[in-house]
Amino acid sequence: MGIKIGIVGLGNQGILHVEALKSIPGAELVAVADVNTERAKSVAYEYKIPRYYSSARELCEYPEVEAVIVATPDHLHLEPVLEALKAGKHVLVEKPMAARSGEAELMRAESRRRDLILMVNFENRFNPPFAYVKELLERGDIGSPLYAYIRLSDTVYVPRRMLPWASQTSVAHFLMSHTADLACWYFGRRVREVYAASVSKVLSDLGTPDAVGALLKFEGGGFATLESGWVLPESSPSVFDFKLELVGSEGAVHVNTEWEGLAIASKGKLVYPHMAKLYRLRGTVTGFLREVDRHFVECVSGRATPLIKVEEGVENTRIIEAIVRSSLEGRAIKL
Ligand SMILES: NC(=O)c1ccc[n+]([C@@H]2O[C@H](COP(=O)([O-])OP(=O)(O)OC[C@H]3O[C@@H](n4cnc5c(N)ncnc54)[C@H](O)[C@@H]3O)[C@@H](O)[C@H]2O)c1
Repeated sequence: MGIKIGIVGLGNQGILHVEALKSIPGAELVAVADVNTERAKSVAYEYKIPRYYSSARELCEYPEVEAVIVATPDHLHLEPVLEALKAGKHVLVEKPMAARSGEAELMRAESRRRDLILMVNFENRFNPPFAYVKELLERGDIGSPLYAYIRLSDTVYVPRRMLPWASQTSVAHFLMSHTADLACWYFGRRVREVYAASVSKVLSDLGTPDAVGALLKFEGGGFATLESGWVLPESSPSVFDFKLELVGSEGAVHVNTEWEGLAIASKGKLVYPHMAKLYRLRGTVTGFLREVDRHFVECVSGRATPLIKVEEGVENTRIIEAIVRSSLEGRAIKL
């Protein structure tokens, strides 16, 4: 018997949480929900999950559920998160916490009022090379951070064919929420000013920019340059390009996870498969997404405190909003 969990939203990311939770001894996946009832039914059948529903509300009415993972599209986190919190469940919500900072604030207030865990899945804090950079900083091996460059970009497959709701979010919300979180985590100080620029051409029919570049200035000095686009050619060997360079007062680090050490040339194509996030190794699921879920289960059990504080999720949505505003208004935005 473990912590009884439900998952709302069973798309690309939701199904990975299903895989991860099924492999965690202290967790019991007791229910799933999706507006697409057929999807919920087939996932429940395939993974032997006792109950399935068509909405967060129905799932949250099931009293045995103690905690809920929300993996609905970026702009649809508010309703399932509030349903879960109001029903007394702890919540792990996908990044970005919300597409509007006001919605993130409502979630934060509800979780505080009810003294429930509300953690945002900034999963790269559990991604070994990025987690190791934090350890180096904590140990003082590279001194204090001076400046950083972080690029996370996707191929055009993501907005064109993977996300039916790409026009409802933005490249800043979908991708830069990750890199803004890493920058804030490493600097350990608040962002005071944001300046950003964007370009719109390839995806102009979707009403979302192709790419955005942002400069974050931190309280007490130091800056991070973030770059995210989602128009890389589909012929790229990896669906994403993720790189970091961080220069500290006593050293520097470089991370490149575009290539995880495996390249396959076959059928006229070169591909870089990704296994660090979730991989089934001889029947056993491993990977950093599993570590996020395991940490969440530990927190719900009272054996750990969330590595990602709810305030950090809210602040992240404010930073992303400032980035979007700055790119539209062509001026620096103070936070
Ligand atoms: N942490 C990461 O690195 C990472 C990676 C990919 C996606 N995500 C995030 O996960 C979330 C989901 O992304 P995705 O790629 O899985 O999207 P998706 O479109 O593949 O899946 C979303 C699912 O939610 C369902 N849904 C929509 N509205 C719902 C509602 N009100 N109640 C219940 N179900 C509902 C849809 O039917 C669909 O099955 C997004 O916020 C995204 O940014 C995070």
